[in-house]
Amino acid sequence: MNIIKPFDYLITMMYNQIGDNMKALVTGASSGIGKDIAIRLSSIGYDVILASRRKEELKKVSSLCTGKTEIYQVDLSNKDECVKMFNKYKNIDILVNNAGYGMFGNFYDTDLEKELNMIDVNIKAVHILTKLYLKEMMKNNKGRILNVASSAAFSPGPLMATYYSSKSYVLRLTVSINEELRRSKSNVKVSVLCPGPVDTNFNNVAGVNFALKGLSSSYVAKYAINKMFKNKLIIIPGLINKISVVGCKLLPLRLLAKIDYNIQRRKEK
Ligand SMILES: NC(=O)c1ccc[n+]([C@@H]2O[C@H](COP(=O)([O-])OP(=O)(O)OC[C@H]3O[C@@H](n4cnc5c(N)ncnc54)[C@H](OP(=O)(O)O)[C@@H]3O)[C@@H](O)[C@H]2O)c1
Repeated sequence: MNIIKPFDYLITMMYNQIGDNMKALVTGASSGIGKDIAIRLSSIGYDVILASRRKEELKKVSSLCTGKTEIYQVDLSNKDECVKMFNKYKNIDILVNNAGYGMFGNFYDTDLEKELNMIDVNIKAVHILTKLYLKEMMKNNKGRILNVASSAAFSPGPLMATYYSSKSYVLRLTVSINEELRRSKSNVKVSVLCPGPVDTNFNNVAGVNFALKGLSSSYVAKYAINKMFKNKLIIIPGLINKISVVGCKLLPLRLLAKIDYNIQRRKEK
């Protein structure tokens, strides 16, 4: 059943040119932020392709969406699977590169293979999909890409070094691409979402407890989508998170690393 709330529909009309089959693809749509972004996009009239590894979870998310959905089972750590997904769904209006995860521990202790897999999901898949979809969107001179980084992108992250570094890559890649698009006067838009702690399954996967109470994923999703349609480049939900990002920009890296070590240590389960 396709029930679109009139107010939400109006918002979409304001920010976007509505065509017949507006389509969005959301990676990591089975849980947390990706799940709520998918539900939100569906509620404002998009057909949503829900992508991740766990088909049963995706089916549950599909049942919560108000519009048309498709489920696509994919392991984004695999380059060929990323390319295959792109070839199946070339024609989309919005790509949300959300899938990702973290891992806790001293860099000298953490497992190399697990970390390389994290780099494949958090960096390589985002890189591949952003490139392939951007090329396609450039041909049509329309489309949006929302990359999910983290407030971790602004600082070094001892005890989660690879995760923090991976998110820094996503932030810098997106901001760089934005400047290229701006110079070429393209209508294609990119944004990067940088949340602080959000209540999702992230903690369980990363093996941590947050020091601060997290925002709800539905709040973060709604905030992110609204800002994306307003062409906001760097999207930072939550006041405390905004203040901490300003702090990260002001403090020297070594001092930030010391502060972050103490914060991270308290996250250990
Ligand atoms: N929660 C936070 O505090 C927080 C803060 C800042 C940024 N973020 C970022 O937000 C994004 C979403 O995380 P979340 O908090 O919503 O955590 P989550 O609830 O654990 O969701 C992570 C999603 O990523 C998907 N995923 C992981 N590995 C995958 C793979 N190899 N192939 C395909 N999909 C994969 C998972 O789906 P399957 O398991 O079904 O594959 C799941 O849908 C991540 O990029 C994370 O780094 C989270």
